[in-house]
Amino acid sequence: MYNQKVMDVFANPQHMGEVENYNAIGTVGNEVCGDIMQITMRINDDGIIEDAKFKTFGCAAAVASSSTATGMIIGKTIEEALQLTNKQVIEELEGLPPQKIHCSVLAEDAIRAAIENYEQNRAKK
Ligand code: FES
Repeated sequence: MYNQKVMDVFANPQHMGEVENYNAIGTVGNEVCGDIMQITMRINDDGIIEDAKFKTFGCAAAVASSSTATGMIIGKTIEEALQLTNKQVIEELEGLPPQKIHCSVLAEDAIRAAIENYEQNRAKK
């Protein structure tokens, strides 16, 4: 069902866990399957994402997608991270089975939710 690349990332996921001293957190649920994804980030004053990590109660596709997506946004600006789409993540993974596409949306949504949380916190200061 999964290609080798997805299996490799799933077997050895990067950026799993929670960023120490994070200042952005986003948690989203997937309407299709009910699974949950949480992304934490540390964003510096220049708006650069210094670190990003994920935790998920999701399937292999969710783990592979979020590992890949977090890797793709570390070192990027929040504007660049907001442009990341699940399509790009799927390309990076060399494809996902059609019934697993929704899992990759979780990572995209959680990144957006975390950035929203960061911006809300900043607005309060
Ligand atoms: Fe729920 Fe993949 S089936 S995240």
